[in-house]
Amino acid sequence: MTSFFTALDNIKRSEDGGADAWDTDSYLNIWVGRITTGVLGYSDNPTANIPDDEHGFVVGFQYFGESDHENYGMGKTAVHEIGHYLNLKHPWGSGNCDAANDWVNDTPISEDAYYGNPVHPQNSCETVDMFMNYMDYVDDSSMVMFSQGQVDRMHYALDIFRPTLQESNGCGVPYLVTQPDLLMPVQSLLLTVPYIWI
Ligand code: ARG
Ligand code: ZN
Ligand code: CA
Repeated sequence: MTSFFTALDNIKRSEDGGADAWDTDSYLNIWVGRITTGVLGYSDNPTANIPDDEHGFVVGFQYFGESDHENYGMGKTAVHEIGHYLNLKHPWGSGNCDAANDWVNDTPISEDAYYGNPVHPQNSCETVDMFMNYMDYVDDSSMVMFSQGQVDRMHYALDIFRPTLQESNGCGVPYLVTQPDLLMPVQSLLLTVPYIWI
């Protein structure tokens, strides 16, 4: 079976045994495969200097969707990587109670990553930490939330860095329409209703 390396990003290129991206202006590409380097997944962030056709994220097949993995079998790795794709950082930032941490005000400053299933409360940097956040490293069963500040930062990232996704009709006719809208001609629906397909 083919293996893929984080450093090479070869999963993103068919000439290297991977698969080429769909147009990254219209799609959030998710590559799933055997990654040899020990991470569960990895993502670009909007300010990373990588080729356009490598935007998106990668998840090890063992951790994608529902799987029988004991710690990471609930699909939360993809949620975490989508956070990075929309410019979120880990709550501990660069570590050591870094004041800037993750540039989000309502995630408490924390010293380092949490793993496993910690019992609340956990403290570091003189705050009670939000270890149950999707951007921490706890087990899938303990990851349950983004903060409002993180949600705001992701919306901002969509508007500023990935605006074309919001006009993408990549999945065809939008299904998320209200009943009266369905009576409108499809063509005008496509022109007037922006949807985000991620
Ligand atoms: N990029 C992170 C890693 O590889 C993802 C962590 C996801 N954590 C999880 N519980 N699914 O470590
Ligand atoms: Zn991460
Ligand atoms: Ca914070």
